Order: sequence, then C-alpha cells, then structure tokens
Amino acid sequence: MGISPGIIALAIIGVIMAGIVTVVAIVAIYKCALFAIKISLKEDKINHDTSIATSAGSRGGGGAGDSDVEMGSMSHFIEGLQNERPIRFSAQQVRGFTNDYAHKVGAGGFGVVYRGKFPSGVPVAVKVLHCMLGKRAEEQFMAEVGTIGRTYHINLVRLYGFCFDADVKALVYEYMDKGSLDRYLFDHEPEKKTKRIGFEKLHEIAVGTAKAVRYLHEECERRIIHYDIKPENVLLAGEGMAPKVSDFGLAKLCDREDTHLTITGARGTPGYAAPELWMPFPVTHKCDVYSYGMLLFEILGRRRNLQLGGVGEERESSGQMEWYPRWVWHRLEAVVARATGKEGTKREKVAAERVCKVALWCVQYRPEERPSMGSVVRMLEGEDHIAAPRDPFAHLAPYAAPSSEHTTATTTDSDGSAPARTGR
Ligand SMILES: Nc1ncnc2c1ncn2[C@@H]1O[C@H](COP(=O)(O)OP(=O)(O)O)[C@@H](O)[C@H]1O
Ligand SMILES: [Mg+2]
Repeated sequence: MGISPGIIALAIIGVIMAGIVTVVAIVAIYKCALFAIKISLKEDKINHDTSIATSAGSRGGGGAGDSDVEMGSMSHFIEGLQNERPIRFSAQQVRGFTNDYAHKVGAGGFGVVYRGKFPSGVPVAVKVLHCMLGKRAEEQFMAEVGTIGRTYHINLVRLYGFCFDADVKALVYEYMDKGSLDRYLFDHEPEKKTKRIGFEKLHEIAVGTAKAVRYLHEECERRIIHYDIKPENVLLAGEGMAPKVSDFGLAKLCDREDTHLTITGARGTPGYAAPELWMPFPVTHKCDVYSYGMLLFEILGRRRNLQLGGVGEERESSGQMEWYPRWVWHRLEAVVARATGKEGTKREKVAAERVCKVALWCVQYRPEERPSMGSVVRMLEGEDHIAAPRDPFAHLAPYAAPSSEHTTATTTDSDGSAPARTGR
C-alpha cells in the first residue's frame, strides 16, 4: 500500500518548517547572548568608573579595550586612555584627604604613610615622601608614578594619584585595611590581638604575592623589577585578607629584551636583597625571586629569617635557628610540621612542603638557577612537579649540623661552581 503524495508533501513541509523554527531559535539565542555580553561589559565599565572618587581615575583591566571598540565611540576611547594615568593632586587636596595628616599608619625608609579618604568617602593611604632625601627620593617618586600608572592586577595595590609640588611629594594609594603581612607573622604580643592566620590562608597569600610579581615580570607592558619584596610590602584587605603587593618605590623599568640591568647604588632591604644586589654582578628580575624566597621562609617560620640568639624553643639544641633559611634546608620535615601546627591537615602539610622546596629554589645563589615567577606560581599551586632543590647555601661556611638531626631535606649537593663565600 503506497503512501499518498499528499502525506509526503505534508511531511516535507513539516520538516522544512521545523528546520526554519530551529534556525530562527538559534539566531535569537545568539542575539540575546550578544546583547547580554554587551550589557555586562557596559555595567563592568560603569561600576569600575564609579567605584572611585569622582576626582580619581580608574584604569581598566585587559578587557576594557574590547568594550571600547564595541561601543564604537572615539571619545570614550580617549577618555579611557586618559584614565589610565594616576591623577595629579595639589598639596592642599592631599591635606584635605588626610584631614591635615591626622592618622599616621606607618613609616618606611622613604616616607610616612597616612590614612585618609577622598571626598566621595573612598579610603586612601597617602605616602608623603621625605623630600630632603634628594635625588633618590625623587627618582623613586618618578619611577613609582610612571610604572604603577601602567599596571593593573588584582594582587597589586592601586595608585590613584600623586602630588608633586615644591613642598609636598606624595603618592595616593588604595587603602588596605588589614595592614601589612609582617604584623601577622611577627607580632606575637597578645595585647595587639593580631589575628593568627592559618597556614592555608598564608599559602593563598604567598600565591597571590607570587602572581603579582609574575605580572610585573612577565605580563605587563614592560617588565618591572620590584626590588623590595618583603612582608611589609604585602598588604592585606577585607575579611578574606586579600593580598596585594605595594611599593614599586625601587622599581625600574627595563626592556623585555634587556636581560641584564646593571645598577650602581645598593637597593632592596638587607635580609631580602639578593647577593648580586650588593656585589658587582649583573642584576636581573631574578633578584625579586630571591627576595620572594626569603619571604616564603618567613611565612613558613612566622619569624624573621635572621633572629640573633634565637628565642625560647627556637634556640633549640644547636643555636642554628639564628638564620632560618639554612635551618629549612637541613630540617625540612621539622619545618613543615611546625609551619602547619599539630592540627595541620594533610593538605596543609603537602602545601607547606611545596613552599619549603620552592623557597629553596628561589634563593639559589646563582640567579639563573632560580625559577621564573610563572614557574613559582605553578609549583606552589601543585601544577608543576618540584624537582629536589640544590643546597642554596653551599657557598657559605660549613654548617655544623646537630649530629642526630642531620639533613631531612632533599640532599642533592650544589655543583660547587658558585664562588666560595662566607658570611650571611
Ligand atoms: N596602601 C596602604 N594601606 C594601608 N597601609 C599601608 C599602605 N601602604 C603602607 N601601609 C603601611 O605603612 C607602613 C609603612 O609603609 P612604607 O612607607 O612603604 O614602608 P615599609 O614598606 O618599609 O614598611 C607599611 O608597613 C604598612 O603597614
Ligand atoms: Mg612599603
């Protein structure tokens, strides 16, 4: 029994109609998705621009350029470009923001930091530089404004603006309400009631800091060497203690193609500065990797790396705790156990062991043996396998290890080709 031509025609029409409906539906979904993306890009831009004081500009992240093009507005694009730069404030404005320098939050080698706020209520930290320092302070100032103005990363403290007049030279930063990491690592006085940060959070802070330095070295327009990575320059904000690296004070721009940047005067902070910074050797971005390694040791030990005489139990049998990094090399297991505490989870112990090994790699005497910050991030996050580190301290005077506790660390020896050197 044959199928009637009428039924065949109906079936064909049905199939064609279904096809048309499907195509129309796909096109409609595609258009809706495009529209939603456009709206969200616009909203992002608006939120970004209005979150700061009316007077302070904002700098877009990597995606801002795309939305500008989509909006097709030339004036918007030009405005975006202008906003990339920090705003210049007058001395009077800065005095207003800080309520006549009423709340001092800290002081460093180059200036004093005050808490303040923009007229819109956005809190700021104003760093007033010592003008009498002469050339170095001015150099630092210009470097900071020029370099930070072209950087934007979630783990970098933002520079909103600056003041450069005859009497006042100041930098106006995003305010980090939880202060700097050193407070949480080294302030053991109970009356200060500093919150104890658990190891998992410390690990997160270490990763965030590494990502900021990776950005400076590998991802921003021109490589920036920080030169002063230390706990005081890792600032924390919010309940989540989000870490952000501050102080590009010693940063210098260098071309990506330049592998070596020779500098004269000493830079960095003793204890964190790489050997090549105080010796007549070429200096590269690897000096930041060294300082970062020193920071990792301090995160592990919750103590300053150099602590003359040791304190309490830290003096232990041999007195070798004075300089902590070497202790980490010789007592890796003990360091891991202590870093995570009695209640430390398996996960934390694995993370602490990774931190130990990465730190030992970062402080290798020879800069070329230190990993890149990209590699540091991957190793810390467990994405890359960490090879057994070499002894970074082989060039120092022989270590008198306590007899029974010797070497629980990975024990591949240095190839001994680093120049012999004694002292710390
Ligand atoms: N943006 C900021 N927000 C909050 N506190 C800050 C900020 N910048 C600096 N501070 C605090 O001020 C202190 C002094 O900073 P600084 O002058 O950079 O010297 P140093 O980094 O050597 O401590 C820091 O240790 C930190 O506690
Ligand atoms: Mg600082």
